[in-house]
Amino acid sequence: MKRNYLVVVIASSLALAIFSAEAVAQRGPGGRNGGGGPGFRGGQGDSQFVTDRDTFHFLLAHGDKIRREVKNLKDGVETLTESDDQEIADKIQEHVAAMYVRVEKPSPIHMRDPLFAEIFRNTDKIEMKVEETAKGIKAIETSKDPYVARLIQEHAKVVSLFVKNGFDEVHKNHAVPGRE
Ligand code: HEM
Repeated sequence: MKRNYLVVVIASSLALAIFSAEAVAQRGPGGRNGGGGPGFRGGQGDSQFVTDRDTFHFLLAHGDKIRREVKNLKDGVETLTESDDQEIADKIQEHVAAMYVRVEKPSPIHMRDPLFAEIFRNTDKIEMKVEETAKGIKAIETSKDPYVARLIQEHAKVVSLFVKNGFDEVHKNHAVPGRE
């Protein structure tokens, strides 16, 4: 899988995420979802799960201080997700770094939701470029496969709904788009 990860790791708040990401990587294929089966958690043996959950819970609780722009591209999305609150901006960066690793491994999360399950079934067709801004993250996610591009666009919409509706949105399932 070709991937360009453009994040410049300067912020000390990212150090933990990077350390954890390396720990996941060092586990090798055996660490991949641990065969724990689908579910909200990443699976048995997913030691990163609690850290990742704490981060997205924090974001869900602070959606009113997060702004997000999503531009649909012909093959995916370009997004900008930022906050004027430095702690929240740091958490956005931490979350995306961790999710990048989950897409890269892959190490699935939130598999109860059909849209997330489908994203993780297609990670080999997702290109993710992520760049830190002063206040958050700019992400460009694309796919050569038109169906996966639609999945990426649907996922981006759901992230915006997470920002708007917080925990209520996470409890919902989100539909997978049609293949045509
Ligand atoms: C307010 C809450 C949240 C914010 C601000 C947020 C932000 C982001 C951003 C900026 C991205 C990069 C892709 C994009 O911009 O569309 C992303 C990716 C991702 N997020 Fe979140 N997120 C939130 C909640 C969640 C939750 C609750 C989950 C799962 C339970 C989750 C799972 C993921 C996954 C798996 C990805 C990578 C998959 C992909 O981008 O295709 N996020 N998130």
